[in-house]
Amino acid sequence: MIKIGILYKNIKVSGHPFVKSRIDKVYRIFSSIANDIGADVFFGQPKDLTHQGFRRSCHYEGKWSIKRNIDLDFIINKTLNYEWVGKIDPSIKVLNDRRLTRIADDKLLCARIFKKYSPKTFSIERKSDLEEALKKIKTEKVVLKPRFGSEGIGIYIRNRGSVNAPMKNHIIQEFIDTSSGIKGLVSGTHDLRLTILNGEIVDQYTREPKRGLISNTSRGGIEKYFKREEISKSVIHVAMCVDRRFCKILPRFYSIDFLVDKCGKPWVCELNSRPGLYPGDMKNIGVYKKLYKKLLTSIINHVKHQRARAFQSAPS
Ligand SMILES: Nc1ncnc2c1ncn2[C@@H]1O[C@H](COP(=O)(O)OP(=O)(O)O)[C@@H](O)[C@H]1O
Ligand SMILES: [Mg+2]
Repeated sequence: MIKIGILYKNIKVSGHPFVKSRIDKVYRIFSSIANDIGADVFFGQPKDLTHQGFRRSCHYEGKWSIKRNIDLDFIINKTLNYEWVGKIDPSIKVLNDRRLTRIADDKLLCARIFKKYSPKTFSIERKSDLEEALKKIKTEKVVLKPRFGSEGIGIYIRNRGSVNAPMKNHIIQEFIDTSSGIKGLVSGTHDLRLTILNGEIVDQYTREPKRGLISNTSRGGIEKYFKREEISKSVIHVAMCVDRRFCKILPRFYSIDFLVDKCGKPWVCELNSRPGLYPGDMKNIGVYKKLYKKLLTSIINHVKHQRARAFQSAPS
């Protein structure tokens, strides 16, 4: 069996690792699918990591139990940092790769790298940066966001005239008006998320804000799933251009959020290198079961491939 660790900051290493019943249910399903295809999954905290794996972890097989001193082959990082990476054996691969995560976590870097597909974006560290940025941004509304933020925290959409103070570690962005929706999918303000596994689109949904202009589910945004065939060619084209940048990274699992403007042009809003492994609505668990199988298969194949290479290069 291949041993996969899932690193979580907020789990309790006990017979009840997850407080939210939905997450608990999803990880039972995830663990069972892994078992069926040749992998064992262990859940632990960064403080439980040793050089080889987990000192203490939770494991599901019919029920949750605590497992001690597990050597891992692979780690899925669900925490926000990588400080622990130096502690583990370099042969244990981590999802996601740090190169991808570095770009996904930094909204300024991401907008620079994918300049062609991103709203105009500038740092606003100094007053002069802000003045220059406002000369280049033409939209009446502008978006202010923390450079390294997530979950819609600290995002402000303002009229350009009301922005006058520089902000440390923040960016200013052109506002993309998504209020015309996406034909056939959503009627108004939205964003559209595609989840990508090794270059393949494995999940897609729109999010609409409950009120206002910010679509994050953590702020009440409603997810709506749709069929892969309904994704427009232009969105797929941009997604594949973005993915090309990461094509050497395997396995790679991340999402791209798009904003579709009034002319139907898709803009890259942000990348996320830790896409959620659970659906907003459990009605969609069927889609996620397929996704788990694909993700786990890709990890298993990767580990087997690494082992074969290590075996071939070992002195005889
Ligand atoms: N440039 C923009 N134009 C219009 N709406 C935006 C823009 N940037 C962000 N938003 C809205 O704010 C939400 C959160 O922004 P995002 O950059 O994804 O930050 P976070 O990492 O906090 O989710 C987006 O999902 C979208 O609804
Ligand atoms: Mg976002």
